[in-house]
Amino acid sequence: KRDKQSLADAFQNDFLIGAAVNHRTIVSQNELLNQHYNSVTAENEMKFESLHPKEQLYTFERADKIAGFARENGMKLRGHTLVWHNQTPDWVFEDGHGGIAGRELLLARMKSHIETVVNRYKDTIYCWDVVNEAVTDDGEESLRPSKWLHGIGQDYIEQAFRFAHEADPNALLFYNDYNECNPGKREKIYSLVKALLENGAPIHGIGLQAHWNLFDPSLDLIREAIERYASLGLKLQITEMDVSMFAFDDRRTDLKAPTADMIRLQEERYKQFFGLFREYKDVLTSVTFWGAADDYTWLDHFPVRGRKNWPLLFDTEQRPKEVVKEIIGQ
Ligand code: G3I
Repeated sequence: KRDKQSLADAFQNDFLIGAAVNHRTIVSQNELLNQHYNSVTAENEMKFESLHPKEQLYTFERADKIAGFARENGMKLRGHTLVWHNQTPDWVFEDGHGGIAGRELLLARMKSHIETVVNRYKDTIYCWDVVNEAVTDDGEESLRPSKWLHGIGQDYIEQAFRFAHEADPNALLFYNDYNECNPGKREKIYSLVKALLENGAPIHGIGLQAHWNLFDPSLDLIREAIERYASLGLKLQITEMDVSMFAFDDRRTDLKAPTADMIRLQEERYKQFFGLFREYKDVLTSVTFWGAADDYTWLDHFPVRGRKNWPLLFDTEQRPKEVVKEIIGQ
């Protein structure tokens, strides 16, 4: 079904090529996804608030559509995400009497959510981001202050992995985070995962989100992060890649199109990244972008709402950028 210019085919002996999709883009980007990608992740539809807005109410319709899309098109599906401080409804942390839920109640809710969701998709989802973004970006503290941490205690992460493994012993279980190449945060992530392994927790991989830009992180820092995480003996996946045209503190909103310099730099960066990924293909099992083409990207609303960005390998018309040819031929 794909011609030889397909990105997924070019890397079929190396790693999967994935894209985040949502209930709209599985329609609007259907052809592109089928031609160039062989893995998908739901952008929002499998998060706690989407699936489980009230204690007695699960809403699976949109998530089911994405799982169906993956199955019908023979694509792999990554599950995203079971336990996160964000996009989790308030009821989870409340006791129903105006107070906050205690450890036992929270653990029971976490377990029942994980069991229900993992079980429902066990035939389609081959790996889960079990815990997302639990580590602080800077400061002494290692674990991010969150309602999960405060309500359960530090072992909430380990418990989540155990519940997920019980629900589907065949699923590959990942810890997923961003700013993953920043040395300070990298070491915190490394230590967290090392401790999980030492406790015998069922964890199989680390997800490097890879929300990068034209300038950061450097190729060296990326290599160091891959080496460091790989030294734990786990599989790694690039889970949410994009290469923003703007430096992190650049808030310009006046650009209607990327400049020639931006385009050139982005091409260089993408070539370097894929060169590096190929070097590490034995440990890197998947490279997923946080979107399929520049016609839809979460970065159009971050960090400035409505500021257009062009972070992906396919343009706003869903055509491959020049660099795709080079990456495929690399
Ligand atoms: O659902 C409401 C909708 O009813 C309303 O009309 C609309 C108006 O703004 O908002 C909708 O909710 C938005 C939701 O996406 C669904 O589109 C939220 O405002 C918006 O904040 C939310 O953003 C998502 C973000 O996670 C939330 O944290 C992005 O789409 C999604 O790409 C992003 O993904 C995360 C990964 O899960 C974890 N790593 C970082 C990554 C990027 O932030």
